Amino acid sequence: MELNEWKKMLIPYEQAVEELKIKFKSIRNEYRKLDEYSPIEFVTGRVKKISSILEKAKKKQIPINEIEEKIEDIAGIRIMCQFVKDINKVVELIRNRDGKDLKIVEERDYIKNIKPSGYRSYHIIVLYPVQTALGEKEVLTEIQIRTLAMNFWATIEHSLRYKYNKDMPEYIQQRLIKAAEAAFILDQEMAEIREEVLKAEEQFQAKSNIVSDIFSNIHNLYNGGIEEVGELYQKFWELWEEGDVKKLEEFNRKIDTLAEIYGAQKLM
Ligand code: GTP
Ligand code: MG
Repeated sequence: MELNEWKKMLIPYEQAVEELKIKFKSIRNEYRKLDEYSPIEFVTGRVKKISSILEKAKKKQIPINEIEEKIEDIAGIRIMCQFVKDINKVVELIRNRDGKDLKIVEERDYIKNIKPSGYRSYHIIVLYPVQTALGEKEVLTEIQIRTLAMNFWATIEHSLRYKYNKDMPEYIQQRLIKAAEAAFILDQEMAEIREEVLKAEEQFQAKSNIVSDIFSNIHNLYNGGIEEVGELYQKFWELWEEGDVKKLEEFNRKIDTLAEIYGAQKLM
């Protein structure tokens, strides 16, 4: 194939990468605008270089005229997430678009099925239609979804593999497997820390809800002409300093009952 023919062949792939990058970036921006947590941290994309396409075709014994059907990653999108759980959310987002603006061809779960190299990522191969001057053309695109830790590992492993020209010494491979395990543990640790933070936030929210409830109840009692309000405040501060949410809840229930009794008395 002549250089010009290559360039012509690659145009729809470039368009697919540009469009998909914009689409996934706007999902991230949507979350950001709403001040919500985004399962997408950042997005990158690239079109495979001609030399790499030829190399892969040679390695996999793919005839030149079958390159477009057999090489799935001429167009490639990478979606990076903070947490492993976010990957599932992104996969769901893509599945919900199957049959709409793209068609899912295959899913490869290298997170459940870690590669012997230590590689982890979730791959979705899609057919993406682009509108060209010559009409619609569907191009194969590989979407890789991974955490920041997975990406860090894969990027370094890839550049090392490249440096050693596929002849990586055994001890380097072993160390990379160890590094992949460390990245795996890092992902787990980060998920646990996040759970802790979310739990603490919930508890904080629950506590401040009770406190505002107690205050408004005491205030109502005061307005109702109850004299023991000072004692109730005193009791509240004691419980607050103790910091036990259960006891605060119990105290709040007692005030509730008090308010009901006094409310009923006033009506009589
Ligand atoms: P290639 O691995 O690309 O030859 O194609 P394949 O048909 O074996 O598909 P696979 O799903 O295994 O890999 C597709 C892509 O995933 C690769 O092009 C890489 O970007 C990435 N990948 C797969 N395995 C590894 C790995 O061990 N290390 C790194 N760094 N990337 C990998
Ligand atoms: Mg492979």
